[in-house]
Amino acid sequence: MTVIAAVEGNDEGLVLRWRDGAESRFSWFWLRDHDQSPASLDPATLQRRVDTFALDEAIRGADSAILEEGRTLAVTWPESGLRSCYSAEFLAAMAGLAADDWDTQARIPPRLWSAGSPLQVVEPVAYGTIAGEGDGLRTCFERLQRDGFVVIAGVPTDEASARDLFGRFGYIRETIFGGIWSLSAELTEHDDTAYSTQYLEPHTDATYSHDAPGLQCFLCQEFDGTGGESILVDGFALAEQMRSEEPELFRVLCEVSVPGRYIEEGQHLRAERPAIRLDGQGRLAQVTFNNYDRAPFHLEPERMKAFYRAYADFHARIVNQENWQTVPLRPGMALIFDNWRLLHGRMGYSGKRVFCGCYHNHEDFESALRTLNARSRTAPRQ
Ligand SMILES: [Fe+2]
Repeated sequence: MTVIAAVEGNDEGLVLRWRDGAESRFSWFWLRDHDQSPASLDPATLQRRVDTFALDEAIRGADSAILEEGRTLAVTWPESGLRSCYSAEFLAAMAGLAADDWDTQARIPPRLWSAGSPLQVVEPVAYGTIAGEGDGLRTCFERLQRDGFVVIAGVPTDEASARDLFGRFGYIRETIFGGIWSLSAELTEHDDTAYSTQYLEPHTDATYSHDAPGLQCFLCQEFDGTGGESILVDGFALAEQMRSEEPELFRVLCEVSVPGRYIEEGQHLRAERPAIRLDGQGRLAQVTFNNYDRAPFHLEPERMKAFYRAYADFHARIVNQENWQTVPLRPGMALIFDNWRLLHGRMGYSGKRVFCGCYHNHEDFESALRTLNARSRTAPRQ
């Protein structure tokens, strides 16, 4: 697919024919705007240097050629004499014929899990391999990308160690709960269901935030009771189930914007987005579900009815325990998960249970995955 077989110019631009017979069209203006020579693109940062708005709308290439047995296309521009080269991979990705792995996609595809395709449970990552010389941090990121979460064992339970561990995953995000926050039923400064001993239905955090945290981290510091297992649900797996089994309901959840809010003394946060958010290619980008924090909204009765049906369908999948993964966190165990993909909850418990935790931005998680990919391309893992 990524070999150019033929190229033909016309008034509008170039028509490329790929080796498998597919055709792609690129306008002259777009080709000039995407010149990849250092004059047009900073080689290190890939920031654009071309002055798009100074280009002649009627610009037209003088000559084009296929080089390197179809792996490169060259175009010469008459005004400047500039010769632009484009890799076949780049053009195929821009034409939507190949994945743009380097810039947009992570190296390891998510392995969605639910009752129908259960998670393959793996041993927790040993803290020593993260804090020391080992490859533990890479393993954590790979599991976060593949399964949506990772468990780490053997973590010292003091706050300084927690801060050091969490800081390795990205800079710690400041929120109304602070940077590193403590979670215990003994604490009373936040009037939220999380600060109690009761069962917490699986949800995503910060439905009231325009930019919900990407990673959520927990470290169990103390626990002397029973119960309290963390519940994880793969929201992407359940959304994909809905897409194939109930496409109309899936569409409603992609379209209806649901508000969330958080109110306490001196705080009134509010944001809204659909429960299922897709990217430009129709792939899942984020699930958002927290019925505790849902704010009132009203639609025309028929549309409201459709929303309630769709929301209830998603909810029924979420609370189906066959779709759950439970993690009994004990002192010294940390859990990190993708808050845009997984829902989390907690079984009710007795005894004293003290956790600390923090959030990271999703964009920084994605950045870490891309830089990890870049390193693995230049230095293959042994
Ligand atoms: Fe939560």
